[in-house]
Amino acid sequence: MSAAPAADFASRDGAARVRVELGDRGYDIVIGGGALSDAAALRRSHPKLRRVLVVTDETVQRLHGMRLADALARAGLARETVVLPPGEATKSFAMLESLCEALLEKRIDRGDVIVAFGGGVIGDLAGFAAAVLLRGLDYVQIPTTLLAQVDSSVGGKTAIDTRQGKNLVGAFHQPRAVIADTALLDTLPRRDLLAGYAEVAKYGLIADEAFFAWLEGAWAAVVGGASAERTGAIAHSCRAKAAFVAEDEREAGRRALLNLGHTFGHALEAECGFGDELRHGEAVALGTVMAFDLSASLGLCSPAAADRVRRHFAAAGLPTSLRANTLAARAWPAERLVEHMRSDKKARAGTLTFILARGIGQAFVAHDVPADKVIPTLRAHGAA
Ligand code: NAD
Ligand code: GLY
Repeated sequence: MSAAPAADFASRDGAARVRVELGDRGYDIVIGGGALSDAAALRRSHPKLRRVLVVTDETVQRLHGMRLADALARAGLARETVVLPPGEATKSFAMLESLCEALLEKRIDRGDVIVAFGGGVIGDLAGFAAAVLLRGLDYVQIPTTLLAQVDSSVGGKTAIDTRQGKNLVGAFHQPRAVIADTALLDTLPRRDLLAGYAEVAKYGLIADEAFFAWLEGAWAAVVGGASAERTGAIAHSCRAKAAFVAEDEREAGRRALLNLGHTFGHALEAECGFGDELRHGEAVALGTVMAFDLSASLGLCSPAAADRVRRHFAAAGLPTSLRANTLAARAWPAERLVEHMRSDKKARAGTLTFILARGIGQAFVAHDVPADKVIPTLRAHGAA
C-alpha cells in the first residue's frame, strides 16, 4: 500500500476568505497581500457609516498609518485616530481609561465603528473599549502581526491585564469583520514573526498532526517572507480558529484547547511583569514545550512526542528553556510560578488546569493537576 501524499497547506492564489459562523453575529476574515483595500467592505457591512475611529500604536501608525488612511479615504470614510504606546503594558486599566476618554472626547456615537489596527495588544484593548463604550459599539479588526492575524483578531476575546494576572478583565465581543493584509507583515521584526509562529504551530499540536508535520518542513517559508506557505498557514490557522469559535464561542468546552501552553506561559509573563523581556508568543512556545514534557512525565504522551515539539520550536529559534539567552538572568522561582497559575482564569477553587496531550494533535483539558507534578517540569526547564 502506498503512503498517503503529504498534505500541502500552501495557498496557491495568495488569498482566502474564512467565515466565522455565528449566526447574525457571523463575520468574514479576509486574508491576503493587499487585503487592506477591502476596507471598502466596511461600507457593505455598515452602509450608513460616515467615519471610523482608528486605534493603533506608535509603531504601526508610523509604518502603515498612511496605507490605512488611503484605503479609508478611497472608501469615502472620515477617520479619527488614537495612537497608543506599543507593548504589552498598554493592555492596562490606565490605558483603557485614556482610550475611552479620547474616544468620548471625539464624540463617538453608536453609528461609528472602531478599527483596531495593530497587533494583539491593540486588538484586545480596542476590542474591550468597543465592548464597554456606550454599552457596546461595532468594531473591525485589522491585525498587523502574525500572532494577531492567526489568533487574537478572531473570536471576540478582548481584555486587559491586571497586577493579578493576564487578561483577567475583559469581555467576549465579536468584531464585525477581520481584514488580515499579509503585506503588513513585511515590516514585522523576526522576533515578532516567530512569536506569532508559535500560535500557528499550536493549531497543529492541538488537533491537526498533518498541519504540524507540514510546518516541520515549511516553517522557514512561513516566517521567512511573503510566500504561498505564509498565506496558506494564516488561512489554515484562521479556519481552525473559526471552527473552534463557532463550536464554543464562550469557552465552555473545546475552545479551551486553544490555551495549549498558556497556563505555563501566562505564569512566565506575569513573573516578568508583562514587560518586553518575554513576548506572549515566546511564552506560549515555552509553555507548550513544558505542557508536552508534563504530559510525558505523567505518562500521557511519549517522550518522543515531547522531544519532537521541543526540536521544532528550537529549530525555529523560539525559546524552549528558561536557561535560554536573556531569560537565564532571572531566577524564575517554581513556587511563585505555581502561585501565578492559581490566578489563571482556567483555575477552579485553587486547582490547576492545563491543556495536556496524548500525542501530537491530541490535546485535552486536564483539571486538578497537582502542583507537585508541575514543579519538577518547571525545574527541568531552569526554574529555581
Ligand atoms: P503586540 O501587539 O505587542 O505587537 C508586537 C510588536 O510588534 C509591537 O511592538 C507592535 O508595535 C509591533 N508591530 C505590530 N505590527 C507591526 C508591523 N506590521 N510591523 C512592525 N511592527 C509591528 O503583540 P502581539 O504579539 O501581536 O499580540 C500579543 C497580545 O495578544 C498579548 O497581549 C496576548 O494576550 C494577546 N492575545 C489575544 C488573543 C485573543 O484571542 N484575544 C489570542 C492570542 C494572543
Ligand atoms: N487564543 C485563545 C482563544 O481565542 O480562545
